[in-house]
Amino acid sequence: MNIIKKITVRSPATVANLVCGFDVLGMCLNAPYDTMEVHLLDEQKVIIHSTDGYPLPTDPMLNTAGAPLVEMIGELNAGIGFEVMINKNIKPGSGLGSSAASAAGAVVAANHLLGNVFSKPDLVRFAMTGEKVASGVKHADNVAPCIYGGVTLIRSIFPLDIVSIPVPELFVTVVHPQIEVKTADARQILRKEVLLKDAIRQWGNIAGLVAGFMQNDMELIGRSLEDVIIEPVRSILIPAFDEVKNRSKIAGALGGGISGSGPSIFMLSKEEATAKKVETEMQEIYTKIDLPFYTYVTTINNEGVKINP
Ligand code: HSE
Repeated sequence: MNIIKKITVRSPATVANLVCGFDVLGMCLNAPYDTMEVHLLDEQKVIIHSTDGYPLPTDPMLNTAGAPLVEMIGELNAGIGFEVMINKNIKPGSGLGSSAASAAGAVVAANHLLGNVFSKPDLVRFAMTGEKVASGVKHADNVAPCIYGGVTLIRSIFPLDIVSIPVPELFVTVVHPQIEVKTADARQILRKEVLLKDAIRQWGNIAGLVAGFMQNDMELIGRSLEDVIIEPVRSILIPAFDEVKNRSKIAGALGGGISGSGPSIFMLSKEEATAKKVETEMQEIYTKIDLPFYTYVTTINNEGVKINP
């Protein structure tokens, strides 16, 4: 077995749902990010190495980077394969799209090594196989923004219909309290039915958020960052959730909520100084209750997975 060529990619964190858009909206961040080295092999196999100390499976079929590549080389059936070195910086179970970063980074890198034979929707399709490995269901609200960059609307996954939404410059504050919430568990606890009145409110918010982004209307963005369906159930799993949200808004944040399936919480701000004030509030809250945490003040990443950073 020989290495034909190799590249490095930077695969960023993502915020799925964007509060009101469960499974249909997602946003790509500039920090944190994973780095991956991917080798093109002259043999039809996938080999995964983890260089970060997280106890993630290296069996390709059980690995979120491996399963999409197995599918990709199966479709190509050209006697080539991939070897992947993952250096994970986005903690699994953080709600920041850790599994998506592995899946998206792997398929973007592989496609680059192949001379970009696959389209972006193809890459999302492969990467969703990684999400299925991680959480038991295919969803694209992390892998699509990770591959496309910016904010994406996943209008449909079967068939795939992804729309990039233009966004104004915004600052994002993220706090990751150090508890792990597995996406599969956070989906399991959701009610299977919603009240029509709640659905109507949620539709209004999703449309309002998209319009707010496109029209650069900060007030509308803030008003639309409301979730009457998922947040009331999932926020119970996140210590001090309401306090983080309330104090962030008092500090000037437009709004925010649970990042993906949690436990991370994100807040959007118009100014960097506000985003930093929000970070201080978050730090004070978790220091007071003695729960270890990480915070990030970052911006929206309009590029997605970066080749040879
Ligand atoms: N939309 C998914 C969920 C994202 O909230 O379960 C998981 O990161």
